[in-house]
Amino acid sequence: MVQIAPSILAADFARLADEVARVEEAGAHLLHVDVMDGHFVPNLTIGPPVVKALHAVTRLPLDVHLMVEEPDALLPAFIDAGSANLSVHVEACRHLHRTIQTIKEAGLGASVVLNPASPISLLHEILPELHMVLLMSVNPGFGGQHFIPSTLDKIRALKRKISKRHLTVKIEVDGGINATTAPLVREAGADVLVAGTAIFAQKDYAHAIRALQG
Ligand code: DX5
Ligand code: ZN
Repeated sequence: MVQIAPSILAADFARLADEVARVEEAGAHLLHVDVMDGHFVPNLTIGPPVVKALHAVTRLPLDVHLMVEEPDALLPAFIDAGSANLSVHVEACRHLHRTIQTIKEAGLGASVVLNPASPISLLHEILPELHMVLLMSVNPGFGGQHFIPSTLDKIRALKRKISKRHLTVKIEVDGGINATTAPLVREAGADVLVAGTAIFAQKDYAHAIRALQG
């Protein structure tokens, strides 16, 4: 069954600990934390102190999505803050293999993110090293956008590559996931669904999570 990673971007930041407790209780598997630096994406969110504070109040593994221009400089702070998985954008990493090795050597899950226009062929060599591939199904930077339908073919193609090479890399999909798009994404082969609006904008988080799981 797919795993659900609520994105706190859509949570009430003034009541963050409470929001996280509620999704944990509601059956979430991971907590997706969107880090934006105002350069790689035109939006600014949170940094290591917030990850550290979350780590202290939840048992959910922290799935940290780094939408930043220079991830290497920030890795130590996010590692120390208690991240379980660090996802870096292929578009932001000049020496991707080195970045992935640094994350793995610290004992964390290391994952790579592809923007909608970046092809999966960019991952050919690094694929066996990865915990997950995160496919963006919207252009990163904001919650509440519409799912880009061509992502479905990309998920299928990546799934085929992973099985053909007998790898265990998981496919995570992020952006515009809701009760309508989730079944399509699941059917295409996704293992982890990220959802912000489709969970935190609902009244009943457990019901929202079940609706995405199918
Ligand atoms: C977008 C972020 C997503 C976002 C998803 O840049 O990476 O994680 O929070 O939000 P929804 O589920 O509302 O599209
Ligand atoms: Zn994200």
